[in-house]
Amino acid sequence: MQISELIEQALKARESAYIPYSGWAVGAALLTADGKVYQGCNIENASYTPTNCAERTAFFKAVSEGEREFTSIAIVGGKAGELPTTYCGPCGVCRQVMMEFCDPKTFCIYVAKSPEDYKKYTLEEMLPLGFGPADLGKK
Ligand code: THU
Repeated sequence: MQISELIEQALKARESAYIPYSGWAVGAALLTADGKVYQGCNIENASYTPTNCAERTAFFKAVSEGEREFTSIAIVGGKAGELPTTYCGPCGVCRQVMMEFCDPKTFCIYVAKSPEDYKKYTLEEMLPLGFGPADLGKK
């Protein structure tokens, strides 16, 4: 799949962001090893801490459907009603969730402003020395 297409799907997911508190809309599109895409948006809460980021929404949807192998994720975020003007990096909690299911050396994170304007990082670059299943002798 083209990166531009994955970013388009993240932009589409962003339209569903439930953001009455921050007004900051995030969308994610998670690509599985066999080419399926799971979309996610951020979902806020009046009690604040139950808020779920777009990236984790995408991961939890995919994992709950039985998916375990992922190759990349596209992320777009910015003020609601506007196109993204910055590259919205995943928060630390989302990076840790990625660490649970992805190979840090090969999993790619695309942070995008548009389908043509993006930056690419590996999970290892975004979470150096990340603690994951391998540290506990798993996987
Ligand atoms: N947010 C995400 O969805 N992903 C991130 O990685 C950064 C933050 C959301 C959470 C909250 O709804 C809003 O952006 C402002 O923090």
